[in-house]
Amino acid sequence: MQTDNLNIAVIGLGYVGLPLAVEFGKKRPVIGFDINQKRVTELQNGQDHTLEVSSEELKQAAHLSYTANAEDLNAANVYIVTVPTPIDEHKRPDLTPLIKASETIGKTLKQGDIVIYESTVYPGATEEDCVPVLERVSGLMFNRDFYAGYSPERINPGDKEHRVTNIKKVTAGSTPEIADLVDALYNEIIIVGTHKASSIKVAEAAKVIENTQRDLNIALINELAMIFNKMGIDTEAVLQAAGSKWNFLPFRPGLVGGHCIGVDPYYLTHKAQTIGYHPEIILAGRRLNDGMGAYVVSQLVKAMLKKRIHVEGARVLVMGLTFKENCPDLRNTRVIDIVKELGEYNIEVDVYDPWVSKAEAQHEYGIDPIEQPKPGQYDGVILAVGHDQFKALGAPGIRSLVKSGGVVYDLKYILPAQESDIRL
Ligand SMILES: NC(=O)c1ccc[n+]([C@@H]2O[C@H](COP(=O)([O-])OP(=O)(O)OC[C@H]3O[C@@H](n4cnc5c(N)ncnc54)[C@H](O)[C@@H]3O)[C@@H](O)[C@H]2O)c1
Repeated sequence: MQTDNLNIAVIGLGYVGLPLAVEFGKKRPVIGFDINQKRVTELQNGQDHTLEVSSEELKQAAHLSYTANAEDLNAANVYIVTVPTPIDEHKRPDLTPLIKASETIGKTLKQGDIVIYESTVYPGATEEDCVPVLERVSGLMFNRDFYAGYSPERINPGDKEHRVTNIKKVTAGSTPEIADLVDALYNEIIIVGTHKASSIKVAEAAKVIENTQRDLNIALINELAMIFNKMGIDTEAVLQAAGSKWNFLPFRPGLVGGHCIGVDPYYLTHKAQTIGYHPEIILAGRRLNDGMGAYVVSQLVKAMLKKRIHVEGARVLVMGLTFKENCPDLRNTRVIDIVKELGEYNIEVDVYDPWVSKAEAQHEYGIDPIEQPKPGQYDGVILAVGHDQFKALGAPGIRSLVKSGGVVYDLKYILPAQESDIRL
């Protein structure tokens, strides 16, 4: 089978879907489909509010068109699904977007078509949850009339170095021939090559453990930080010393937010539980990481009390609201845990983040970020996110924000050790 005759539609034009559609759209016709008309209009106007793709790059994708009309999908014979895979309030996988996208594709699915899923899922989700929807809606039979593929995404929002084309990509297909075809298709855009997995389940499992491993490694370092803080030992100094060994992994403590690392492990643990295995280590790591916001505030409050700062009614500035540095992504940010916990102490909180959309912060979290912090106003400052703008302020700029005797808490090791009062 040749890739020449493949007409791609990308379903879901978010952080993952858009960069992918753009890369394919530089080379071949691509239909970019999203149910969000506002997003489609923004892209038609040459703008990407996620800042993953510049206006220049959008122009380079000369063969990419955008639509919110599902009927336009009729022209496609390969559908790449990049819709969200969140968890619900009970931390269980919410496959609704994936099922809805599969229903949309099912309506347009034809003989010989291929549906490739990229969304992060648990092993089995493609063949056990999505394919039956495609079969039901289309009336076609899997691996006879249509085929499936899975190719997880590894991009890292805000990272201008590791981009779609220079991150090795895992590919898989529902038959050996389809696996070859899917692999060949991705090799058209991935300059560093692909890893063809032996099955769709292997590829699904590989993605979910990448993020689970990262989550657990950070949980271990968070636990070590708690131990060292109790002992008055500087964690960063310990990590630097241990990091002088060739095989010590360079993880740092911190909040684990975003919609990947703090979410994906629950997909795996959910699946494990449905087959009668109750994961211990993975969930212990999750619990620890989810408790970091409350821990940070307890540390700040202790430091304030030691300096005889009256905690109730104190003013604290939280610097950074996004889930990570140098990107506007607010989804599942755990900085919100810090803000809420400070509120429990009746501390007055200002949030400052030059990256975020004020409307989104208000809509998602009911927070109104301030325009610019004023010097000498705060009893405490928490450096929660390592944005370049905060690094550029340096120690004098950040210290100038606190009143004399105020506490600077550096979660991100932005400042030299002696310039902050506490660090994680
Ligand atoms: N953002 C990342 O860093 C990253 C990295 C690797 C993997 N992933 C995974 O990729 C998937 C997508 O994540 P994302 O960050 O791009 O999400 P996103 O929220 O940025 O984008 C998803 C897009 O899909 C659209 N959408 C939702 N339901 C749809 C439907 N039924 N039909 C068509 N469009 C629909 C939304 O409007 C949105 O524009 C998730 O499974 C995520 O876990 C994300």
